[in-house]
Amino acid sequence: MRGISRVSTLPAMATPSLVSLAIDGGIPVRSPGKPWPQWPQSPPAAERYLLDVLHGRRWTLTGPIRDSELFERRFAREFAAWVGTRHCVPVDHGSSALVIGLESLGLDYGDRVLVPALTWTASATAALRAGLVPVLTDVDAVTGCMSPDDVDLGVDAKAAVVVHWSCCMADMEALTALGDRSGILMVEDCAQAHGAGLYGRTAGTWGRLGCFSTQQGKVLSSGEGGAVVTDDDALALRLEELRADSRSYRTDRGRCGELETVETASIMGSNFCLSEFGAALLCAQLEVIDEQHATRRRNYDLLAAIVEGIPGVRLHRPHPGQTQMSIYELPFIFDELPTGTSAPYLARVLSAELGTEFYLTDEPLNTSRLLRPWTKPTLRPLADEFVRLHDGREFPHADFFGRNTVVTHHSTLLGTESDMEDIGAALRKVVRTLS
Ligand SMILES: Cc1ncc(COP(=O)(O)O)c(C=O)c1O
Repeated sequence: MRGISRVSTLPAMATPSLVSLAIDGGIPVRSPGKPWPQWPQSPPAAERYLLDVLHGRRWTLTGPIRDSELFERRFAREFAAWVGTRHCVPVDHGSSALVIGLESLGLDYGDRVLVPALTWTASATAALRAGLVPVLTDVDAVTGCMSPDDVDLGVDAKAAVVVHWSCCMADMEALTALGDRSGILMVEDCAQAHGAGLYGRTAGTWGRLGCFSTQQGKVLSSGEGGAVVTDDDALALRLEELRADSRSYRTDRGRCGELETVETASIMGSNFCLSEFGAALLCAQLEVIDEQHATRRRNYDLLAAIVEGIPGVRLHRPHPGQTQMSIYELPFIFDELPTGTSAPYLARVLSAELGTEFYLTDEPLNTSRLLRPWTKPTLRPLADEFVRLHDGREFPHADFFGRNTVVTHHSTLLGTESDMEDIGAALRKVVRTLS
C-alpha cells in the first residue's frame, strides 16, 4: 500500500487509487522518490583524461604534436581491438561515419543504396549527402532489421546500409551471402549496436565497414562522435583522408610541433575529425562499457521472464543466432493495442506509472517528416529519383513497429532487479486496467 490509505477524508474524486492509472490520478506503481539510473554517466577516468587534454594544449588531431599520445589515436586503436577489426577511424558524428563510409566505396553519383525503413533518419540522409539515392526496404517482422526477404534486387542497388536496430542485429549471415551473390556492398550501421554479436561475430565486422555513433544517448557516449571500423587497409586509408581534408595519419612518430597528419590526398575529404575531448571521454567510456553491458543483459533476461507472464505485451526478441546483445532501446511490443489506445498513450501511461520516460521508437522513414530531400534544392536530382522510386512502396512491418511499440532507454536496464519488477508491475497494471 506504500503507506497511503485508501480510506481518505478527501472527496471521492480526488482520492488516489491503486487500481486507477497514475495518468488518471491513481497511485503510481513506483514511488516517485525512487530514482532511476541517469544517463550519460561519467566513468572514473573521465575527469583525469579530460583535464589532461585541457592542460595538454592538444585539443585536436589536426593540431601540432605534443609529447603525449593523442587520445584520438588511442581510442582508434582500443576501439578497433574491442570490436575486432584491423582499423578504426574516429569521426565527429555517427552520421559522418556513414557519409565517409559510403563515400569510401567509390560509387557513382546517383547510385542506389538500400536503407531499412526502421531507423534514425541519418541512415538515409547520409546516402544523400554522399550523392546517392536511399531506397527504403521493409524490415523483418521479428527483429525489425533489414531482411534479405525484403531486398528488392530490381532496384539495382550498389550498397546497403544495414541497421542493427534497438537491441537486435540484422541477419548478417544471410545479408552478406546476398551481398556476395548480388554485388551489393554491405555497410553496417552499428549506431545502436556497440558490442552486439551474431554467431559469435561482432557487429561491425560483417560488412565492408561498420559505422558507429557515440552521441549522448548511445551506450558508448562522448556527447557527439562516431567511428568507422574496417579490416580493409585500402579502405581505411581512404576513410582517414575523407574525414581529415585529404590527410591521413603519419606513419612515423613525428617530432613535437610537427603535424600528426600528412597530405596523402588520394581522395578529396572534408573535416569530420573527432575532438580530443570527445576521444578522451571515449577512452574512459571503453573502460566501463563491458560491465554496463553485463548489467543490461542480466536485466534483459530478468525482464524477459517477467514480461512472458503478462498477456498482450512482449519484449523484443533477437534473431536466434544473436550471441551478444547490445541494448540501446528496449522495445515492448503490443501486438494488439488495448481498445481505444495508441502507442503514444501507452508511453505516457507507463511513464506516469514508473517515473521514467517511455517513448516511441523513431518514426519509420517511409512516413518520417525528417526525410524530405526535396526541401534542399542542391539535392534535387537525387530527391526526384527518391520520390519516384518510393511511389507505391509499402512497409507493413516497419509501420507495425512504429504503431505497436513503446521503448525504454538502455539506462533503465542499468537498474536493479527491483527496478525490473517495477516495470513488470506497471505493465501488468496497464494491461489489466486497459483490457
Ligand atoms: C541507427 C542510427 N544511425 C545513425 C545515427 C546517427 O548518429 P549521430 O547522431 O551520431 O550522427 C543514429 C543516431 O541516433 C542512429 O540511431
